[in-house]
Amino acid sequence: MSKLLLKLDSISGNNKVMVFASRIHQVKIGKEEIENYCIWNKSGLTRNYLRKTEEYELLLLCWEPGQRSSIHDHNGQRGWCYVIEGTIREEQFEFPKIPGKMKLINNPFLKQGELAHIRDDIGLHRLSNVSDDERAITLHLYVKPLERVNVFNEFTGTMREITLEYDPIAPDSYRDGSISEQVR
Ligand SMILES: [Fe+2]
Repeated sequence: MSKLLLKLDSISGNNKVMVFASRIHQVKIGKEEIENYCIWNKSGLTRNYLRKTEEYELLLLCWEPGQRSSIHDHNGQRGWCYVIEGTIREEQFEFPKIPGKMKLINNPFLKQGELAHIRDDIGLHRLSNVSDDERAITLHLYVKPLERVNVFNEFTGTMREITLEYDPIAPDSYRDGSISEQVR
């Protein structure tokens, strides 16, 4: 993990997004390297801080069986999701043009070791650990950092903006249920 952080911290100059993309495509991380960063919560998936600079944000998401995110955009930022452990379903939705049920446009499954690219012109998405009994861990890179996103109601298509937080910073607010949104 420290090698990856050094590589990401050293990126500078023009074409930074392309270099970030290249570095994340080379990533190979096993569960044993990141276990110490993981926080688990049966009542909601967790966002675990790894690094945040002016240029990028790196975090781990920890998914108990059956946990899933809200449907959300990425506020114009580029992102990548690498599956360290487990299998994640990514449901991609069309941006709602008229009020009504959200339209599913793609539904890929991301297996251990696979990488997904996230961008608003691809679509909105919702991630899920669909396993009944296996946990999942995903590594997320955003360029630039992703601090606010829009979340969407699956049935009405209405959206509202929310601020994202890390679990180590606000664990109590997640655990007492005062933050109900799960956005990744
Ligand atoms: Fe996302």
